[in-house]
Formats: sequence, structure tokens, C-alpha cells
Amino acid sequence: MRVAIIGSGPAGFYAAEALLRRTDTVVHVDMFDRIPTPYGLVRGGVAPDHQSIKTVTRVYEKTAARPTFRFLGNVCLGRGVTVEELRQHYHQIIYAVGNEDDRRLGIPGEGIARCTPVAVFIGWYNGHPDYRQAKIDLSVSRVAVVGNGNTAIDAARILLRTPAELEKTDIAAHALEALRHSQVREVFILGRRGPEQASFTPPELKEFGEMEDVDPIVAPEELAGCVIPEAAGNTQQEKNLKILQSFAVRQHGAKAKKLHFRFLVSPTEIIADADGKVAGLVLEKNRLEAQPDGTVSARGTGETEVLDVGMVLTAIGFAAKRIDGVPYDEKARVITNEDGRVVDPVSRNVIANEYVVGWARTGPQGLIGSHKGASAHVVEHMIADGAGLEARELPDREAIDSLLRQRGVQIVSFNDWKRLDDVEVARGERRGAPRDKIVDVEAMLAVLDQH
Ligand SMILES: Cc1cc2nc3c(=O)[nH]c(=O)nc-3n(C[C@H](O)[C@H](O)[C@H](O)COP(=O)(O)OP(=O)(O)OC[C@H]3O[C@@H](n4cnc5c(N)ncnc54)[C@H](O)[C@@H]3O)c2cc1C
Ligand SMILES: NC(=O)c1ccc[n+]([C@@H]2O[C@H](COP(=O)([O-])OP(=O)(O)OC[C@H]3O[C@@H](n4cnc5c(N)ncnc54)[C@H](OP(=O)(O)O)[C@@H]3O)[C@@H](O)[C@H]2O)c1
Repeated sequence: MRVAIIGSGPAGFYAAEALLRRTDTVVHVDMFDRIPTPYGLVRGGVAPDHQSIKTVTRVYEKTAARPTFRFLGNVCLGRGVTVEELRQHYHQIIYAVGNEDDRRLGIPGEGIARCTPVAVFIGWYNGHPDYRQAKIDLSVSRVAVVGNGNTAIDAARILLRTPAELEKTDIAAHALEALRHSQVREVFILGRRGPEQASFTPPELKEFGEMEDVDPIVAPEELAGCVIPEAAGNTQQEKNLKILQSFAVRQHGAKAKKLHFRFLVSPTEIIADADGKVAGLVLEKNRLEAQPDGTVSARGTGETEVLDVGMVLTAIGFAAKRIDGVPYDEKARVITNEDGRVVDPVSRNVIANEYVVGWARTGPQGLIGSHKGASAHVVEHMIADGAGLEARELPDREAIDSLLRQRGVQIVSFNDWKRLDDVEVARGERRGAPRDKIVDVEAMLAVLDQH
């Protein structure tokens, strides 16, 4: 069997491992990625000050070392290669393309200068080639981060870290330099619902209490009506409440930077100054409303205030990007599927031999480890559906390489990536960091030409 996996993030790598580990069938995996470097959000999303999380790539390296695995980096599905071509060269296809689009608030002023989707900010500080030239203006003192998930926490934490805390990480050199001169002193994390509905995980929330130069601040009235547990708490919700309460009673004042948590507020308008840059954020106060299905939603009360901030980051979730020839669910904003089998969006008929894993299948939910079981589950469908498929004769395995080269695509192999990896690690040693990333594709390809 020959399988194409599109995307080299956690979901793609766990699917590859589940296929290559099988003893009942020999599988050849070609893993494509649109950029020359593998690992998806492990490289381009996970925060630089959380280095230990990134060691998961050692597991993926073992998969990549298997003899029937190949990495074809710098090949974009929809641009360098088409779905139809993949169908000709592979028995089965797995889409593992993640969620590379943002969700938008849809309010007046969104998109003006200094109002930035969090994916841009994260890609910028993580040295993703797409965002190396993003305009991140840190000349303002107060920033609002909209959203109550871990992405909002990551963005706020990086904004508030000291240069000393950051320079020993693999943060992109351009971001480190900009953050050295940052004027940001106060960050407001804004939740449209209450503290009990926040999706932060407790270790991430707690970390704000341990930062070098940050006071986390929760006004006691923000926790009004919440049932705070006596002990540390068992559930995520209880633990979060306990941590937020510890912030509420904490003495503060000594540290130069402040992190404020505000709940039950929704942005309704972004105010611009005379230069068209963010000068404030209109917030509407919300109340919680129980829904028949047991969930709790936010309802605007009509009461508004203006939050004095000069920058807004929106961290309200992500969505899959549309790719030519790949069915797309316009409502859920994922690749249309039934339990990982790709289906036609209208007829819901299964599109034979095409599968989807990871965030492209479910939307942006779940940590890296959650993809291991989820991708293996989809691989079970592939094996069940694929009986006899290997009898279908395909072009030679390298025919796809020739096709790509003919159209000028420079394929980056896993060995090429290892060479880039060595160069980045050596550059990082100079500043005492795990690596200093090469942030643009041309520079990566130039390095490969030289070495
Ligand atoms: C900011 C942030 C921080 C996070 N931090 C953590 C953390 O600390 N711990 C944790 O457990 N989880 C963390 N997560 C969650 C974790 O990153 C995700 O669960 C996981 O990466 C999703 O895996 P995926 O393979 O579906 O997508 P991704 O990791 O996004 O991988 C998708 C891959 O597909 C490639 N691709 C996209 N389109 C194409 C195309 N057309 N052709 C070819 N290739 C394509 C992309 O280049 C990318 O390499 C974080 C998420 C975010 C957003
Ligand atoms: N350090 C880490 O471990 C780390 C870092 C980043 C991400 N991740 C993981 O990646 C996944 C995605 O995280 P995420 O933070 O991007 O998403 P998330 O947890 O879904 O949080 C999104 C937040 O945006 C809010 N929101 C959505 N639409 C909104 C709107 N129109 N107006 C105001 N607020 C709105 C949501 O509020 P409602 O709840 O009211 O909908 C929610 O608070 C999670 O599994 C997360 O754990 C992990």
C-alpha cells in the first residue's frame, strides 16, 4: 500500500506511525508539508518558553527513520500538487493539514492596525515563514487578548516575559529583538463567559503567578457568584477557580507588568485613533444564560465600557483552510468527514480512500497527545476499507518527485531537514538557546544548497 499524508504535525505523524507499525500489511508513507520544516504547531505554535513539550519530536523522528517513510517538505497541496495527482500516485490519502485559518469577531474596526489575529502573533514569535514579516507594533503599553483558552494565555505570557526569560528559548530572533524594546506593561485577558467556563488548563493559568516581572490581577467582583473549592480542587474548573482566587487575594504592586483577568465581557467595536490604529476597545457586559441542552451561553446586557488599550489580539479559535479539490464543511470549518472518512458535503457519500485526522477533522480542540489515539482510530478505518487496494498498480514511487521537480518544486527530504536542524541548533548555541530558527523558505533552501 502506498499512502500520502498531507501535513507533518502531530496528527500526521501519529497516523504514519500507526500505518508503519502494522505487521499485516507493508505500507509506504510519503508525508508532504507545505513548508520545508516538519512538525506543524509543535514548531510553529507551542510556546518557546515551553521547550519540554517540543521533545515530542523525538518520537516523530523515530517514525521518520522507518525505511518505508519519506518526507517531502516544501510541497503544498493545492499549489505544488493537486488532489487528482495524489489520487493517481497513492492508494489512500490522509489530510492532516490542521487549522491554519483564524476565526473573526465580526465587529467594526476588526483588522485595523494593531488589531491582530493571534495566529499572526504566534507565527511571528515562533518564526513561521508565513509571518516573519508581520507588523507587530509593541510601542503601546496596554494590550487586550480576547479569548479564555490556552492560546490567549500563551500570547499574554510571551508579551509579558522579560528578555532574560525569553533569550534562552527558541523564540525567533526578530521577535526577541522586538520584545526587548516592548513598551507593553499591562495585558487584559477577556472572557465572554465567566471564570467557570474558561478553557484554560490549570498549569498554564498558574504559571502567571510564577513569572519574573508579572503580577496577575483578578478583581474580587470578577469571581462573584463562583463556588470556590476549599482545597485545590479536582476538576479543571475547580482548579482554575482556586488559582484565580489566589490571584485575587495576592498582594501586588512590586512587579513592573500586570496581567488582568476580566470575565463576562464581549468586544463590540474596536476604536481607531487618527492614524487608524487601535485606541480602545468597546466592551459589552454579559450575563450567563442556561441553554436547554445544559450549556451556558453569554448574553449581552447592553451596558458598555471602553477599555483603554492600544493593541488587540483575538484568540477565539481557528479553522481549517479550504484546499482545492478537498471537501469543506462551511459550518464547522473542517474537512467534511464522518469519523475521519472524507465525505461529500452535500450527498454525505464517502469519498473512497480519503481520510482526515487531527484538527482538520475535529476543529481546534485537544492537546498533542490526544492525536495519537485519534489518528490510530482513523487508520483502523483505512485498513478495513483498503483490503485488496494494493492490487491497483501505481506509477513508480519516485514518479511524484519527477513530476514536482519538472514544475520547479524543490523537495526537502527528512535528511535535508536534519541538516537545517543542525544549522539552527548551532546558531542557537551562540545565544545559549536550543535553536535559532531560520525563518524564511528562501534562506532554508539556500542553506541546503550550500551544505
Ligand atoms: C498556539 C498553540 C500552542 C499550543 N501549545 C500546545 C502545548 O503546549 N501542548 C499541547 O499538547 N498542545 C498544544 N497545542 C495544540 C497542538 O499544537 C495541536 O493539538 C496539534 O498541533 C494539532 O495537530 P495537527 O497535526 O492536526 O495540525 P498542525 O500541528 O497544525 O499540523 C498541520 C500541518 O499541515 C501542514 N499543511 C497545511 N496545509 C497544507 C497543504 N495545503 N499542503 C501541505 N501541508 C499543509 C502545515 O504546514 C502543518 O505542518 C497548541 C496549539 C496552539 C495553536
Ligand atoms: N499551552 C498549551 O498547552 C496550549 C496552548 C495553546 C493551545 N492549546 C490547545 O489548543 C486548543 C485550542 O485552544 P484555544 O485557546 O485556541 O481555543 P479554545 O480553548 O477553544 O478557546 C477559545 C476561546 O475563545 C472564546 N471565543 C470564541 N468565540 C468568541 C467570540 N466571538 N467572542 C469572544 N470570545 C470568543 C471562547 O469562549 P467560549 O468558551 O465562550 O466559546 C474561548 O474562551 C485547546 O485544546 C488548547 O488546550 C494548548
